[in-house]
Amino acid sequence: MLRRIPVVVALSSFALFAQQDTAVPKAVPAQATSPASPAPSAPTARAAAATPIPISKPTDIPTDGSGPKITFSQCHVDGQYIALTFDDGPHATNTPRLLEMLKQRGIKGTFYCVGQCVAEYPEIAKRIVDEGHEIASHSWSHPQLSSMSEASVRDQLEKTHQAIKQATGVEPKTFRPPYGAFTLRQRKWANAVYGYKTILWDVDTLDWKHRNPAKTESIGLAETKAGSIILTHDIHKTTIDAMPTLMDGLLAKGFKFVTVSELVAMDKPAPVKVKATVANKAGEPKPASGSVKKAE
Ligand code: NI
Repeated sequence: MLRRIPVVVALSSFALFAQQDTAVPKAVPAQATSPASPAPSAPTARAAAATPIPISKPTDIPTDGSGPKITFSQCHVDGQYIALTFDDGPHATNTPRLLEMLKQRGIKGTFYCVGQCVAEYPEIAKRIVDEGHEIASHSWSHPQLSSMSEASVRDQLEKTHQAIKQATGVEPKTFRPPYGAFTLRQRKWANAVYGYKTILWDVDTLDWKHRNPAKTESIGLAETKAGSIILTHDIHKTTIDAMPTLMDGLLAKGFKFVTVSELVAMDKPAPVKVKATVANKAGEPKPASGSVKKAE
């Protein structure tokens, strides 16, 4: 359980924003404004969340200096552990339907919730936690944080943190920035103030884009490997439609579903590829065609 850092620390830590920094992932296309602007009466968060901006596939961020690792797009684990994540909810009907599917299979997932939606559907947020899943922050209204002012970013994170805490009784431990856009300085600040690890992904089902259950299933099944963090969005019916086949397929491959925080806790240093020459016993010549490469 995280303890909140006093406000005075939060304020002083905010000086971390003082310098410009490079957003991670690096490439966020210019069309940061949603092409499908929400109707004036529609909840801003869900409308904005429905049109995520595509980004380049995030690379694994090794470490941020000499300190502990605070950014993950996948984990290096012993065993077939994976984390299935659901962004942009809770949604009034799709999230409860998903929760039933997860319960039927005994699968734990992680929900990156938009604060506005948590405030709108606190009972669904509470159900997420009560049924053993991880609930975490995905900002208040799904903006591109990397280009926002310090005060605005702080407002986005603080309001969401409090909304989740109020609705569920638990404090989120991880954060996923909308569009994956969050500078190193911002990530360090979020870690210092809230203890958040910034969580990206290595498997992008592109479910929000194609809205095709068969594609969500095929991408998820083809790209998932041990330690993967799979990105999906539980605000789309077509995503929920894909889940039984995707989850059953991953189970059949021997994968074990854990929450993001559980996966991160299992993370170990990335394997180092080493060159190992074939044992050179006395009198035996070395292999004629160079050394044998072996990856550990
Ligand atoms: Ni999102």
